[in-house]
Amino acid sequence: MRHLMNPLDFTVEELDQLFDLANDIETHRDKYAHACEGKKLATCFYEPSTRTRLSFEAAMLNLGGQVLGFSDAGSSSAAKGESVSDTIRIISCYADICAMRHPKEGAPMVAASRSGIPVINAGDGGHQHPTQTLTDLLTIRSLKGHLGDFTIGLCGDLKFGRTVHSLINALIRYPNIRFIFISPPELKVPDYITDMLTEKGIPFEEVIRLEDCMPQLDLLYMTRVQKERFFNEEDYVRLKDFYILNKEKLEAAKEDMLILHPLPRVNEISVEVDDDPRAVYFKQAQYGVYVRMALILTLLEIEVK
Ligand code: NCD
Repeated sequence: MRHLMNPLDFTVEELDQLFDLANDIETHRDKYAHACEGKKLATCFYEPSTRTRLSFEAAMLNLGGQVLGFSDAGSSSAAKGESVSDTIRIISCYADICAMRHPKEGAPMVAASRSGIPVINAGDGGHQHPTQTLTDLLTIRSLKGHLGDFTIGLCGDLKFGRTVHSLINALIRYPNIRFIFISPPELKVPDYITDMLTEKGIPFEEVIRLEDCMPQLDLLYMTRVQKERFFNEEDYVRLKDFYILNKEKLEAAKEDMLILHPLPRVNEISVEVDDDPRAVYFKQAQYGVYVRMALILTLLEIEVK
């Protein structure tokens, strides 16, 4: 039985197969409409979510399966003190596959070690968010035609942003990637990541101003300042509007640069940017459904002819 905790759980070849499947699902939706009939997906969300939980549910419903679960720890037995290990053993009796989001880093991993069904990490604290990374990679591959050979700017909360940590992890396996980390000093990418890049000889730069690197970027990955991971409100308020991407700043960008964002956005991208053809964050959310459909099929070992 296979779980997904980290994007590196799949080899580059396995990811290619997964993305081919996701692209086939995109073009032949009907072919997959009954693939998961009789199967159930449990979504166990101990932290808020809109896209991740609903896109998992939409994915399973699109495959003809059913969904059950909870979207708030307070409405589950966690409120009575039940451990994730016990909860997953119970969920294993009710469902065929489980997507779990938890504020504690490593909680989905603990669940997977006790589970009778495949467990997907749908975000654990500030650690990893592998299905967002699959979404990001599929978006880049589908719209740019390839993975690798680009300069990517990651901007915003690089300290607490789990989508950023997962994406960097996954991208280092592709050739000729150059990273530009754009953040205020307080929200810099963690040292363990820059140490790892140095060790592997992968080029990166750290800058504070978006304007300083805009013309170089092939991809710009914007992120929200992660309010819920701050220890004090004052720091959050000081940093929350540090970056606001607007039309004026985009004038310096390449014509074919893609702007990605895992969403939700707060103020970091002005709504006037939404109509720019380079803004692909809403399309990215759609790719999230296709890739989760492909992932469910893969982990349940269901082949559609
Ligand atoms: C992200 C997350 O939960 O980490 N959202 C998502 O799943 N698309 C990003 C965020 O909350 O800022």
